[in-house]
Amino acid sequence: MRALVIEEAGPEGRVVLRGGVQVAPLYRRAVRVQVVAAGVNRADVLQRRGLYPAPAGAPPDIPGLEFAGWVEAVAEGCARAQVGDRVMGIVPGGAQAEFLVIHEDELLPIPSHLSFEEAAALPEALATAFDALDLQAGLRAGESVLVTAAGSGVGVAALQLARLAGAQTIGTSRTLDKLERAQAGWGLQHPLRAPNPNTPEELEALIAQVMALTEGRGVDVVLDFMGGRMLDAHTRLLAPGGRLVTLGLLQGARGQLDLSVVMAKRLRLMGSTLRSRPHAERVRLLDALRARALYALRRQGHQPAPLRPCLDQVLPFDDAAAAYARIEQGDTFGKLVLSWGAG
Ligand SMILES: NC(=O)c1ccc[n+]([C@@H]2O[C@H](COP(=O)([O-])OP(=O)(O)OC[C@H]3O[C@@H](n4cnc5c(N)ncnc54)[C@H](OP(=O)(O)O)[C@@H]3O)[C@@H](O)[C@H]2O)c1
Repeated sequence: MRALVIEEAGPEGRVVLRGGVQVAPLYRRAVRVQVVAAGVNRADVLQRRGLYPAPAGAPPDIPGLEFAGWVEAVAEGCARAQVGDRVMGIVPGGAQAEFLVIHEDELLPIPSHLSFEEAAALPEALATAFDALDLQAGLRAGESVLVTAAGSGVGVAALQLARLAGAQTIGTSRTLDKLERAQAGWGLQHPLRAPNPNTPEELEALIAQVMALTEGRGVDVVLDFMGGRMLDAHTRLLAPGGRLVTLGLLQGARGQLDLSVVMAKRLRLMGSTLRSRPHAERVRLLDALRARALYALRRQGHQPAPLRPCLDQVLPFDDAAAAYARIEQGDTFGKLVLSWGAG
């Protein structure tokens, strides 16, 4: 098969399209999926740079954490999946290839109105945002959430899920255009310019803006892609009983924290990654996602579905290097997808 392969992972690492790559063997209750489209994530870019090696069991040099395609073969013992099913899903690596092998319990169905390219923009962002907001933070109707990098792939999914849950949404971005787009079509109610974490006045201004929007209480949940240098401000702008879910470290892994704030406000600080989760935990998350969120991907009559994929661009696999460069530049709104059919 053809696949993207990372050559010389490190500062000079490259992704190249190669033919003649071995397809993994089937195992009991596994299916072979013919991939039509695959999302590109920051994890792929970090893996190419040698900063985020694939976990044990995943192909070490084929990137790709999410895919959409159809079931091409089923192994002995399969009870749910059938040849020809349109499916999407998350994997710990290896999705940016023509075929992949995955346990049938890890497949999600693609709603009939979505193309494979649209579907490939969903699994990673949706599963990450759902896990963080619903399963980790327990976001409830009437609460408020601050979504950092609100125009990111996960950020846009989180805004939609938060509105579905009946929560108030505040979002930050360094890019005004992304705030406008998020507000116009993706559920952002209160756009705020992201502060420079090295400028104390900007951090104080963010805290004051969030307090003003929440009648002085602070937000109930922060969905944090920034990490270290925003830690102090994020704990200060949380409400009593607030939850901080760290999903990304765009502003570093280390920060300062005033534990008296954590104690006084009874805060809960959490973190999560999807990629390294074992099969059983992955299945638990996907079962919850199927039961509680996938209904929202369905259209109601001629109305758009409450939950939609947000596609910035579809590129052919030949242009993978350009897709990776765009993720690194940070100028995308929503998701970038590679397609075997595009070109
Ligand atoms: N824990 C998990 O399981 C998990 C899963 C998926 C993703 N993630 C993480 O979640 C974050 C969002 O992922 P994504 O795929 O949705 O990202 P994305 O679509 O690539 O968007 C990331 C956005 O963050 C902003 N940004 C980039 N560098 C920044 C910096 N140094 N400081 C502040 N803002 C910066 C940029 O938007 P602006 O224009 O607004 O600056 C950029 O577009 C990433 O950190 C990713 O690694 C975690």
